[in-house]
Amino acid sequence: MRLEYTHLTERFGAVRIHELQRVIELDSGAETGGRSGLIVSDEALRAIERELVVVIPCKNETRRVIDGVLSGIPHDCLIVLVSNSSRTPVDRYEIEAQTVADFCRATDRDAVCVHQRDPGLAAALKVAGVPEILDDEGLVRSGKGEGMLVGMALAALSGRRYVGYVDADNYVPGSVNEYCKVFAAGLHLAESPYAMVRISWHSKPKLQEGRLFFSRRGRASQVTNAFLNQIIGEYSSFGTDVVATGNAGEHAMTMELGLRLRLAGGFAVEPHQYVDLFEQFGGVLDSPHSDVMASSVEVRQIETRNPHFHDDKGEEHVADMRLQALHVLYHSGISLPPVREAIREFLGLPDDVEPPCERVYPPVGTLALDRLIGVLTSEARSFRQIGTGWSAAVPSP
Ligand code: GDD
Ligand code: MG
Repeated sequence: MRLEYTHLTERFGAVRIHELQRVIELDSGAETGGRSGLIVSDEALRAIERELVVVIPCKNETRRVIDGVLSGIPHDCLIVLVSNSSRTPVDRYEIEAQTVADFCRATDRDAVCVHQRDPGLAAALKVAGVPEILDDEGLVRSGKGEGMLVGMALAALSGRRYVGYVDADNYVPGSVNEYCKVFAAGLHLAESPYAMVRISWHSKPKLQEGRLFFSRRGRASQVTNAFLNQIIGEYSSFGTDVVATGNAGEHAMTMELGLRLRLAGGFAVEPHQYVDLFEQFGGVLDSPHSDVMASSVEVRQIETRNPHFHDDKGEEHVADMRLQALHVLYHSGISLPPVREAIREFLGLPDDVEPPCERVYPPVGTLALDRLIGVLTSEARSFRQIGTGWSAAVPSP
């Protein structure tokens, strides 16, 4: 794979955000000594893929689409499906888990599946030390961020070094494959053990008056990016547009970073990752992570080539996602008064109304993962290990 060089890097304390870089060539050939662009060889990509867990959060997506997503994930990656699909009147989770099992049998691969609302998973997370993720019914709350936290814990249990996320509603297997290759390329290029790669898709195709229109920008991202950039600009006194991936659903990171992140619930999860990096490693608020502060946190943003063609869940859904993003930005201790004021204005809030707070969970690295796996394997009936066989040996962050 060949990527553009990045020239500009914005700093926020120990956090280094690279400007957006494009994929120039999906396959850069066998020669590794090219003169243009950053080349990541096939061997280098594969070395990362062997250490990469790909988590697929899934809620009521169709079997054929999920099967396509699976087919796009490079062979050596470990697949983790975290599903919040309905189980009645038809048990959609059973269909999904069977789809994963069939795929793994056909391709000689490993995977793990679990249902987010499994009482056994709830019990496991409770003993592991995150009871706040449970709702009034005593089950893990619904939400993409909650599913991602479960995926992060399972990724940690695998002992692999990297975790990435891809959505289950992607109609183009080739784009899933490109996302995973880009994860591997970005992680290979990282100079810090605390690194994250965030995808900015090239375009999203939409039908407009009978024609395909390739829209360049996401409806939620535009707003989230603008406010994240304002947060940075307020500190540096220089305006910036470096953040292009505030809502990136497709992203990957080193486990060393992932285990330290405080994941937010629902669709606040991705914008909150930036906020959390700034809070924990920005040098503005106190940080217990002197090891990370002495190193750096590297964020690479990479623009992929394939169009992002997924299920359109409607305008209301996008508006809700935008709101959740703005809530975390508003309530963060690193947002200075002008940013908060701008968010209030954008939301049209009267002076006496505060936006609600989104949920933020403790880092997965602080959980008792050895206890989690014990309860999970004995009590979670939806938990499937296809080809894997995990012990309680868990890497510490
Ligand atoms: N496990 C789990 N639990 N998965 C969920 C849940 C849940 O409660 N809710 C949604 N998902 C899954 C969906 O099935 C899909 O695979 C993925 O999470 C993303 O959800 P969508 O509903 O398709 O979101 P979107 O396409 O509008 O937004 C995506 O892109 C945004 C950036 O453009 C998401 O990835 C956002 O998080 C992202 O910000
Ligand atoms: Mg989607």
